[in-house]
Amino acid sequence: MSELIIFGRALDPQPVWSALPDWQQADPRWINQALQAALQKPGGGWFVVDDRRKFGDKPRRYRIDDREFVFWQGKHGLMAASDSCPHLGASLADSRVRDGCLVCPWHGLELGERPMGSWEPLPVHDDGVLVWLRLDDCGEPPTGQPIMAPRPTSFLDATVRMEARCRPEDVLANRLDPWHGAHFHPHTFGRLRVIERGDEDIIVRVAFQVVGRLAVEVDARFHCPDPRTIMMTIVGGDGVGSVVETHATPIDETRCAVIESTLATSDRPQMKYVLPLARWIRPLIERRAARLWVEDVAYAERRCALSVTEARR
Ligand code: FES
Ligand SMILES: [Fe+2]
Repeated sequence: MSELIIFGRALDPQPVWSALPDWQQADPRWINQALQAALQKPGGGWFVVDDRRKFGDKPRRYRIDDREFVFWQGKHGLMAASDSCPHLGASLADSRVRDGCLVCPWHGLELGERPMGSWEPLPVHDDGVLVWLRLDDCGEPPTGQPIMAPRPTSFLDATVRMEARCRPEDVLANRLDPWHGAHFHPHTFGRLRVIERGDEDIIVRVAFQVVGRLAVEVDARFHCPDPRTIMMTIVGGDGVGSVVETHATPIDETRCAVIESTLATSDRPQMKYVLPLARWIRPLIERRAARLWVEDVAYAERRCALSVTEARR
């Protein structure tokens, strides 16, 4: 631990943390209670789909909650609907787009803002970083917009999307166990200690290794604003207000998508020089996030497999 070279803003004096080893602090009862509290929060029927940058001129197909949807650029912004043509069921993701309408590849039916039989456009929200879809038949009272935690006003953002053989709750449970950080990801977290634990949130002091043993130490709070999202917010040190939003969207009964956005900010004057470099910095953040998620997906998948086995007994 002592060989870490910490740079950046000094944190508040050393808080008191538990002398117990991490495996004793990582109490399964607390993790489960925080998870259950998250799962009972309103979600408004909104599901994160993907990085908004991926939505260009061509239609895109996504499987969400065991159904296929097509997304395309309509006359007044991004639109979404069932991917099945109401005529004979062609996949609309293979359509051309003409004047904001999908032109079905099989017989040329044009589909736009007007419903056609049971086919109708669904509510979509573009929050500037991510695209969300609302499913009004998912059992949640719908809200006009997704329920989102505060974001910084000026930021550099990067998003990764991965798929995992688990449920959204396994993704949340992974992040509600920060005690695994320095053990399971030693290449990224030089040290990580929990400094505060509420009923539903947790604050950690973490040394994030930027290059080799060169690390920046920050305080970060984890909490779940809705039943499919866990947020990490920097609350002390450099980059206060920066967030990492981890969203878990069910694909089908056995898989979910993990969509994680990092929104980095700083009150340092140098931030204005960093923002124009976003296109070069973004891939570095994405590579780092993807590497962590390879390991965290393995954690979440194992948690899911164990609980499925347990349920069968
Ligand atoms: S299947 Fe789409 S127009 Fe016939
Ligand atoms: Fe992790």
